[in-house]
Amino acid sequence: MKFISVVGARPQFVKLAPIAHAAAKAGAEHIIVHTGQHYDPMLSDVFFEDLGIPAPNEHLGVGSGGHGAQTGAMLAALDDVFLTYKPDWVLAYGDTNSTLAAAVSAVKLHVPLAHLEAGLRSFNRRMPEEHNRVLTDHAADLCLAPTQVAMEHLADEGLADRSILVGDVMTDVLYTIRDSIGSAIPAVVAAEGLTPGEYFVSTLHRAETTDSAEKLGQVVAALSTLPYPVILLAHPRLVAKAKEAGIDLNVGSLRARDPLAYPDLLAFAMHSRGIVTDSGGLQKEAFLLRVPCTTVRTETEWVETIDLGWNILANTADEILAAVNRSAPSPTDAAPYGEGHAAEAVIRVLTEHAR
Ligand code: UD1
Repeated sequence: MKFISVVGARPQFVKLAPIAHAAAKAGAEHIIVHTGQHYDPMLSDVFFEDLGIPAPNEHLGVGSGGHGAQTGAMLAALDDVFLTYKPDWVLAYGDTNSTLAAAVSAVKLHVPLAHLEAGLRSFNRRMPEEHNRVLTDHAADLCLAPTQVAMEHLADEGLADRSILVGDVMTDVLYTIRDSIGSAIPAVVAAEGLTPGEYFVSTLHRAETTDSAEKLGQVVAALSTLPYPVILLAHPRLVAKAKEAGIDLNVGSLRARDPLAYPDLLAFAMHSRGIVTDSGGLQKEAFLLRVPCTTVRTETEWVETIDLGWNILANTADEILAAVNRSAPSPTDAAPYGEGHAAEAVIRVLTEHAR
């Protein structure tokens, strides 16, 4: 079985790691295409190095741009790649513009398309990620769902007959890395002059948070008043938008620094008091590490984290303050994201369904 993984943005490299390892173990022929959507080394190369992912076979070097220009450039380049390699499957990951480009190119060329992380929904039609995931699910021949809730969304949209529950591949990689780093306090804690258990970790990068100066100003003001240092792992989009809006990211309790590599992020999060984020992946990582999370959004795709009490949605300054000061969630053994074997299931399903 020969398949092409199309990736381009940070969360996709994390998902690619367990897939690449499972493919190698199963003897599948795996071609990796990097669209170049993310190009800063800390958002891209460091993931390949730390997670043992083979170098991409093709790098499209597309870079930043508006949604149309960025997606269109990828689409044009991917046609040639798919025609050259003639894979049994194109595997599209998650919900970025790279996902949508892979989906449209594959479906137009009649190359079978599988969508990893299918069926997630925020039901917020203003999110670029929501357009990307809905369109990709409906173009796909195989919707590979991470959770039961995602399977239900796919069924509601008439896609049940092409949907398979495989589990969540981000859980696979998280468990592997968590076990390899152990419980040692990461160097970044001392480097930032922090005490374990007495700092918050924050990330903010979504267009809904960063692209309105009013919303961003409100969130920054709220974080600046928290009772412990808040270390903001600043995505380049956030840095650019804050600068444009004249918003200082180093104010009160809030301190901005560069993003961390994946193993450092897990270790840093593990020893924190809590996480405040608008990231989908980090909400789930917080739950898997059993660190309380506050999500600065009006909805989430990972509803299990909320239902189990480990995540709270908060938007205003008062809501954020109340959420980070809440009492500790009840311990749980629930495993809505699987036991860490999703990537093996993906390779098995692709192999079984290859024409
Ligand atoms: C993208 C995805 C989002 C995902 C996120 C993870 C889309 C629509 N969004 O958001 O779903 O959660 O990646 O990080 O695909 N930039 C750099 N260096 C880089 C990459 C980006 O400076 O390596 C800056 C550029 O100014 C660019 C901006 O960030 O214009 C936005 O980048 P883009 O790839 O469009 O979206 P993200 O915000 O990263």
